[in-house]
Amino acid sequence: MTNCCIFGPPGAGKGTQCERIVEEFGMVHLSTGNILRAAVEADNDLGRKAKEYMDRGELVPSDLINAIVLEKLKQPDVQSKGWLLDGYPRTAGQAQLLKDNGLLPDVFLCLDVPREVLEERVTGRRLDPETGNVYHIKYRPAPREIQDRLVQRPDDTAEKLHVRLNAYEDNLASVRPFFVQSECVVDGSKNMSEVTDMVLDAIAQHHRAHAQAEV
Ligand code: AP5
Repeated sequence: MTNCCIFGPPGAGKGTQCERIVEEFGMVHLSTGNILRAAVEADNDLGRKAKEYMDRGELVPSDLINAIVLEKLKQPDVQSKGWLLDGYPRTAGQAQLLKDNGLLPDVFLCLDVPREVLEERVTGRRLDPETGNVYHIKYRPAPREIQDRLVQRPDDTAEKLHVRLNAYEDNLASVRPFFVQSECVVDGSKNMSEVTDMVLDAIAQHHRAHAQAEV
């Protein structure tokens, strides 16, 4: 069993790669962005508090999300299958919380994608509200019959990407030191299948090393 975090700037391809990682290794995918968007959609207490930050492209206060993440990581299926955290931790405080709870990942995947590539990825992203599937107008076009129902995330504009990227870059230097032992940097600017090969290989290497250590 392998526990992973996937880290990277907005639009780096974290969610896209998580789909393939889960298919291959079967751990439970926990995306804090998806949890928060579902709360906004449900118009519940968390969603109403988080929405104003998300709409501006800012991070939500950690105390809105920390307890939820810890609670989810304790669930029996997560304990037995392993976890894949997507979008968490994002700050040194969130990284420290994982550490304090003995929840440092085996593999900390870091998708490295330059700013100029991210704008095209984010502004071209489209979501299918019925299935939750994520498409891209150029790199992963949706089937023609569903194209009319696709929507864009409210924070997927060039202006909000700028705010989101600044939040990412402000925290980068303080988050990564928590994961020096497990960090694996992948060139996320390649095409989707090339990135997938590198990501799956990084996790497989951990599996092999772990298996050898047990012999
Ligand atoms: P979140 O949903 O986590 O947003 P993000 O980190 O900005 O990441 P994205 O979902 O935008 O991108 P992604 O890397 O998953 O890219 P994707 O695979 O879709 O968070 C949203 C908000 O929630 C935050 O701004 C904050 O407000 C709040 N939040 C969440 N977690 C929080 C936390 N821990 N603390 C505080 N606040 C938090 O790919 C993007 C597009 O590119 C897609 O269209 C895809 O098809 C395409 N694509 C993917 N890979 C490739 C490739 N290799 N080549 C070409 N196209 C590609």
